[in-house]
Amino acid sequence: MEKIIDENKQGESLILEAKEGNSRKLFIESYGCQMNFSDSEIVASILANEGFDTTQNLEDADLVLVNTCSIRDKAEQTVRKRLEKYNAVKRINPKMKVGVLGCMAERLKSKFLEEEKIVDLVVGPDAYKDLPNLIAEVDDGRNAVNVILSKEETYGDISPVRLNSNGVTAFVSITRGCDNMCTFCVVPFTRGRERSRDPQSIIEEVNDLWNKGFKEITLLGQNVDSYLWYGGGLKKDFEKASDMQKATAVNFAKLLELCATAQPKMRIRFSTSNPQDMTLDVIETMAKYQNICDYIHLPVQSGSNRILKEMNRQHTREEYFELIDNIRHILPDCAISQDMISGFPTETEEDHQDTLSLMEYVKYEFGFMFAYSERPGTLAERKMEDDIPNDVKKRRLNEIIQLQQKHSLYRTQQHLGKVEEVLIEKESKKSDKHWSGRNTQNTVVVFPKENYKVGDFVNVKINDCTTATLIGEAVGYSDNN
Ligand code: SAH
Ligand code: F3S
Repeated sequence: MEKIIDENKQGESLILEAKEGNSRKLFIESYGCQMNFSDSEIVASILANEGFDTTQNLEDADLVLVNTCSIRDKAEQTVRKRLEKYNAVKRINPKMKVGVLGCMAERLKSKFLEEEKIVDLVVGPDAYKDLPNLIAEVDDGRNAVNVILSKEETYGDISPVRLNSNGVTAFVSITRGCDNMCTFCVVPFTRGRERSRDPQSIIEEVNDLWNKGFKEITLLGQNVDSYLWYGGGLKKDFEKASDMQKATAVNFAKLLELCATAQPKMRIRFSTSNPQDMTLDVIETMAKYQNICDYIHLPVQSGSNRILKEMNRQHTREEYFELIDNIRHILPDCAISQDMISGFPTETEEDHQDTLSLMEYVKYEFGFMFAYSERPGTLAERKMEDDIPNDVKKRRLNEIIQLQQKHSLYRTQQHLGKVEEVLIEKESKKSDKHWSGRNTQNTVVVFPKENYKVGDFVNVKINDCTTATLIGEAVGYSDNN
């Protein structure tokens, strides 16, 4: 359960594995959201064409790239610490070049070059195709910066190099940017306006993954339910599209259906859903196709109507409950998870109690919970005082986490005695005699290996559980193999 207490999904890092054959060595690591991990695969693909192999050894690198996260101050501090480490290595290997990618690059722009002397290259999330030119600049002894945000760029034409892959699960990005302007959030500033990727290129990627042996994909975007393809262009310009474009537009429910039917045995997940954009037809499409997993990540941030309004979330507590009721009605077994923020400016004890009571109503499977961190340039930073003392934020956060632990255990207990389909992903971290995979609800299941292998769909009888994990034994292959 440390996953939810720690910096978790937005703060994890991963060093990408080695791919060999080219001449220069690239060390690339990613911090933050799944989109950053997915983007690093795009970057590795662009640089593979430029003669770069990836290496897992920082000491061997000719080029070090760090894909950064700005979501909370702590995420930025983590990256700053990594830069110190690169600095130490550069003293031994002075030829090593260092580039910063992602949200911190976009937020700080050329200021990065002044603040961190080690940095040679600053590249925002929409400028990765320019990396070959920027690296050439750096090779000539100049610093290079490109932080231009794009109206078009979706990297739809780039086939990502699958790095650090288990060969079973993969991310497929479908939208970029976000138009929602939640007042606490830096993402609309660092990732630009919302645009969707051509469904044709998405389906081609899904088919290609299936042909390579992958069994599960996660469609990625800041706000996937807002997906809208009408031939290209920004989401906000849809109104100006022609009648023909409007009539043939593809929304998220349709995209889900296209993916589910293109590969009927491929498990399909998606993240993240914003409550205001999640429509009934998405839930109905999930119910219609067995290969779309019964799991929705549905961040709410707060249970108080007043705070939701201050956050510029476009729905009320009551509308959220209505959505939850619809999900429970149409998809009775669907797991739901949350993101929650404690201590947003002006939050009272009463507002906090509203958050706890909302959680009581939903009883989420799990959650990602954070103390409010003021981000430069956001509306909340400009208009509101960060007035909740740290100890109060922390205390409220702990109460939220404690309650989530209780609900998580309640939810995992509901699986006891059932037989559930699990896709095997990897060896269990705790035992080399056990496999680890997930059921459709996204809960981790571990069980003895027997003769099964990674990538198998197995029926597992659930015998025991913790707050985060189900423990069971295989009873045979599932029909999906
Ligand atoms: N739609 C995005 C949200 C990205 S931010 C997605 O794909 O997940 C992820 C989570 O970080 C948010 O849901 C929110 O709970 C948290 N978060 C964002 N800005 C924050 C801030 N300033 N302080 C604390 N938590 C924040
Ligand atoms: Fe951020 Fe809200 Fe978009 S949390 S990513 S502005 S939906």
